Amino acid sequence: MNCRKLGKTELNISEIGFGSWGIGGFPFWNSDGDKKSIRSIEKAIDLGINFFDTAPVYGFGHSEELLGKTLKPVRDKVIIATKCGLTWNKRKISAITRNCTRKSILKEIDQSLSRLKTDRIDLYQVHWPDVKTPQEETMTALMELQQKGKIRYFGVSNYSLEQLKAGLKIACIESIQVPYNLLNRSIEKDILPFCKSNNISVIAYSPLASGVLTGKYNKETKFTDWRSKSIPGDFSGEKYEINIDKVDQLKKLAFSLNDNTTRTAIKWTLNDSSIASTLVGVKNDAQLKENLKGIDQRLQGHLISKLNRIFL
Ligand SMILES: NC(=O)c1ccc[n+]([C@@H]2O[C@H](COP(=O)([O-])OP(=O)(O)OC[C@H]3O[C@@H](n4cnc5c(N)ncnc54)[C@H](OP(=O)(O)O)[C@@H]3O)[C@@H](O)[C@H]2O)c1
Repeated sequence: MNCRKLGKTELNISEIGFGSWGIGGFPFWNSDGDKKSIRSIEKAIDLGINFFDTAPVYGFGHSEELLGKTLKPVRDKVIIATKCGLTWNKRKISAITRNCTRKSILKEIDQSLSRLKTDRIDLYQVHWPDVKTPQEETMTALMELQQKGKIRYFGVSNYSLEQLKAGLKIACIESIQVPYNLLNRSIEKDILPFCKSNNISVIAYSPLASGVLTGKYNKETKFTDWRSKSIPGDFSGEKYEINIDKVDQLKKLAFSLNDNTTRTAIKWTLNDSSIASTLVGVKNDAQLKENLKGIDQRLQGHLISKLNRIFL
């Protein structure tokens, strides 16, 4: 598995990161069960993945707990990224709120360390910007955690370019985690070029558009998890149907290359050198094995152009 450098740090993270949202299960995803989740984490290590991304809100702590107990024996060989800034007072999606105050972050870090069974987080990321809390307060709290040794480095997620620039005036932000896939290329116009010139790593999330780019869904699919409540267009409606037509073309192209749809979509996200890692969401080891087969081979330039034309 190829690795890429994380920002200005000495950390080399695997190009494919283990996305741990799905294994958290409720309230976002239907779970395949803890046994399968644990097996997929173990398989990831066997296949050379060293970068694991999670968040407290994934399964309300469950994703962090599963990672914590499974990664404990290999803790020094893996790089753990988790997040802060989303809290909840009831175990339901509507009870999740943004909170990036110093007080809340200082409480959250201890809970994450305990669930992850570790004494430090390698990369701590602000999950979503909290516009009610001054950036100065959030960034200062993160620097405080760094000085205490509870986190090694920090980054942000879902920030606009303006928010990222404002944060950089206060602190050393190593990475930004954002959605990036063939169906969502909005970061290409500002975040990607800025990060490239400023040596900030981009961590791509949802490389398969939360499953749509696997090619296993069709226009009639009715989702039963969080995707059923997502904004119209992503998993239902006219835009979704247009996207399915594009995915059908991706399928044909991948087939003509003796590759599969999922891997082709994942490889496309790794074409840009400022993408440090692409976080693939996995629920079982069979999916993981399939997704990683030959993943180190890059897509050739003419194929990238073909894909870009299909997904214009
Ligand atoms: N920072 C943020 O705000 C944020 C937001 C979203 C995600 N993320 C991160 O990015 C990671 C990945 O995002 P994501 O979960 O949206 O998804 P993704 O990687 O775009 O899609 C994952 C889904 O694709 C399907 N899949 C994967 N491999 C497959 C295969 N070989 N065959 C068939 N289906 C396959 C699975 O669907 P089924 O469940 O139907 O099997 C899986 O749940 C998350 O786990 C998380 O770490 C971060």
